[in-house]
Amino acid sequence: MKILVSTAGRHGATHSLGQEMGRVFEHCGVDVDVRAPESVVRVDGYDALVIGSAVYSDRWVPAAKALVDRLSRSEHPPVWLFSCGPLHSSDRPVNVTSDAAHAVSLMHATAHRTFPGKLVPERLSAGERQIFENSGAVAGDFRDRVLVCNWAREILAWLNAEKRGS
Ligand SMILES: Cc1cc2nc3c(=O)[nH]c(=O)nc-3n(C[C@H](O)[C@H](O)[C@H](O)COP(=O)(O)O)c2cc1C
Repeated sequence: MKILVSTAGRHGATHSLGQEMGRVFEHCGVDVDVRAPESVVRVDGYDALVIGSAVYSDRWVPAAKALVDRLSRSEHPPVWLFSCGPLHSSDRPVNVTSDAAHAVSLMHATAHRTFPGKLVPERLSAGERQIFENSGAVAGDFRDRVLVCNWAREILAWLNAEKRGS
């Protein structure tokens, strides 16, 4: 089995979640490619795609949207999507952004999940800092490794069940 994980963000949190999932897949004996959206040209040969985007001002990152647009025009393997954003622990409900909902519909995604992210104020640009300071959000690292790894295992369980059924 071979899985492509492709993530887009600005400051590394989304990429780290993709890498975490890649490690789970590899640990379970799956071949994994973790690649930037811009470098994804063909997806034949993969059994599944995982695409993740950071959320900024309720929007997905352009590179993730462009990847979804590109891939949705042709045949592709089953897709799982995730958003990385909320700056609080995972126990609170979150809104699915319109970009994520659009991506789910374009790719006929099997599932979409939102995972808590990470924000380090010192790393923000002046513009980002201004938006952040006006948002009332709290800085910190809210990434939940267990949540992300469990989701990766759910994806593998789905793929294995599908394989057994075919
Ligand atoms: C300017 C700015 C705007 C943000 N807007 C949102 C938002 O609308 N919704 C959300 O859930 N998180 C928002 N966040 C939090 C980021 O999504 C979070 O920090 C994420 O983990 C960043 O991922 P990255 O490091 O991959 O870029 C915002 C952060 C910044 C700095």
